[in-house]
Order: sequence, then structure tokens, then C-alpha cells
Amino acid sequence: MLFKQQVWLRQKLLVLGSLAVGSLLYLVARVGSLDRLQPICPVESRFGGTHSQAEFPLRALQFKRGLLHEFRKGNSSKEQVRLHDLVQQLPKAIIIGVRKGGTRALLEMLNLHPAVVKASQEIHFFDNDENYAKGIEWYRKKMPFSYPQQITIEKSPAYFITEEVPERIYKMNSSIKLLIIVREPTTRAISDYTQVLEGKERKNKTYYKFEKLAIDPNTCEVNTKYKAVRTSIYTKHLERWLKYFPIEQFHIVDGDRLITEPLPELQLVEKFLNLPPRISQYNLYFNATRGFYCLRFNIIFNKCLAGSKGRIHPEVDPSVITKLRKFFHPFNQKFYQITGRTLNWP
Ligand code: A3P
Repeated sequence: MLFKQQVWLRQKLLVLGSLAVGSLLYLVARVGSLDRLQPICPVESRFGGTHSQAEFPLRALQFKRGLLHEFRKGNSSKEQVRLHDLVQQLPKAIIIGVRKGGTRALLEMLNLHPAVVKASQEIHFFDNDENYAKGIEWYRKKMPFSYPQQITIEKSPAYFITEEVPERIYKMNSSIKLLIIVREPTTRAISDYTQVLEGKERKNKTYYKFEKLAIDPNTCEVNTKYKAVRTSIYTKHLERWLKYFPIEQFHIVDGDRLITEPLPELQLVEKFLNLPPRISQYNLYFNATRGFYCLRFNIIFNKCLAGSKGRIHPEVDPSVITKLRKFFHPFNQKFYQITGRTLNWP
């Protein structure tokens, strides 16, 4: 009798235990998926915003996200904007360069973060005198609508190399965060050349070979007057910026790694921007046809970058590549030293 009761009790405990484990697993899975789908996170960052998750229930956030999409497309009225607390905010972080470093990929990937809103176009406010003369309100009006607890990011790669820009940005916000994405300097110079070459070909114009532009035919040395070479001397440009901003306000993104392994690079940026980690491997998938990572926003929306990103580079004489790499080497060493980020370029 006693034995029978013990068996019955054990069986009951087993059923109850399985039920508890099952419920727990279900809850864990549910919370995990909600977290991934949650469109706008509460940002407890130094960028301000004290809204808690309780103030923004998930359903309301999804509804607001739909509206935000409409606002971004311009299908909105002033009343709607006011009603939903949408504002056009000056950027709290700017991708200042480097041209062909992967600036578009970085901006688009950061835009996967629910607390980030990107300015889609390059605004060229600080590098273009005509735009700059229009004033800061003009610049702010170019920004997308966002919620106050989100941050706006813009990218204009010409900022990095334009003389007047550091002072102008400093005058707008001396504590702004600055992102610089770099690639191995010779590869970046060839990528820069490839873009110009494609532009010429589109207009049925002929263009010089890269070797002819990058090497001075009289001295057989690297032609430092060639813009694609000058832009790749990162340390020279950075030194100008350091007259206005301390190095702590910069974050260096490894553009070569962003191509092959984007997630860890993005996680470093999230940390630098004091954002809660929200970009995950789910948001990035490798597209074999494109040969690059593409973006997944949710189960419905995904996109790859335009075809103008990831062009096939022309073949360059290996001796010219060696010469350029030797030329950039001391500048690279200085760049690592200043930034504290070693990139192991040849
Ligand atoms: P290439 O065209 O030389 O391959 P930018 O946006 O600053 O003009 O940089 C363009 C570069 O971004 C491209 O240079 C490409 O290599 C790089 N890139 C990085 N991640 C990419 C991605 N996921 N899709 C397409 N291009 C990417």
C-alpha cells in the first residue's frame, strides 16, 4: 500500500516538474523573441531620455514605429508630429569618414538599432560653405523625425578631410561623438579610384590608370598630390581634428572587419555610443550572391546595400601596391599610436 502511494506521488511530482520546466522554457523563448522584435528600446544612455519600458508598452511602440515610417516618408501632418512627440534632433554622433571606408554600411547597420535614426542623405553641412551659411536650423530641419530618447546619426565622409569642419562641428556641439571607419589605406585608395573611374566610364570618358596617378612619373615615388593617396594618410587628418576634440570622443571602426565580421565591430560602436546592445547576428546575414553581409530588420524586411557598394577593383601592378604600402606604413604606425587601435595593416 505504502509502496503504491510512493509510486503515485513520484509520478505526480514528475508531471508537475515537466509542466514547470515546459512553462519556463516557453517563457524564456517568448521573452527572447519579444526582445528581438521590440522596435524601440528604452534608452538608458547618457544621451538622455528617461522613458521606461512601462511608459512605452510593446504594442504602442510597434504602432509608433509604423507612424515613424510614415513621417520619414513625408506622409505626415504637423498635428500628427506634435501628437506623437516626434522631433528633428541634431546628431549626437557623426560618421565623419573615411570615404570608401564603409561609411554607408556602418550607417545602415547602426540604423538596425532601435534607438538610432539615420539621416539617409549625406547632408554636407559642415564641408559645404553654401550649406553652412544657411545656419544650424537648416541643418536640423534636414534631420529625420525621431523620438526624444532616440539618437540621430548622419554621415558625410568629406568631413574627415575638409579643413574647416572640425571647428564648425565643435561650435555646434563640443561633446559630440565622432566615428571614423578606416580600411587598409592602399585598398581604400584603389576603391576611391574605382569609384571615380566608374563615373568617368558612365560619361564615356577615358581615365588614367591607377598606377599613373598614384606614382609620380618623374621621381617614381608615391604621388602625394593625388587625392586618393592623401585621403589615406589618416593620421594627418586626425591630427587636425585633435586640435578641437580629445581622442576619447573618437571611435575607430575597422572597415575591413566590418565587411567580413560586422557584428563585433557594431557591438564596439554600441558600447562607444552608450547604447544597450540590441544589434544581433539575427540582423545580419551573409548574401553569397552579393558577397557581403546584408541587413535583416525583422521577418519581413531585409536589404542589401546598393550595387555601387562592393565594386570589383581593377588589377593594380603589385610593385605599385608594395610601394604604396611602404609609403603608408609610418603613417599607420602613428595612427595606431594616437588612436590606441592597432589594425595590423601590412
Ligand atoms: P568597395 O566598393 O571598394 O568594395 P563607402 O560607403 O564609404 O563608400 O564604402 C564603400 C565600401 O563599403 C565598399 O567598398 C565595400 O567594400 C564596403 N562595405 C562594407 N560592408 C559592406 C556591405 N555589407 N555591403 C556592401 N559594401 C560594404
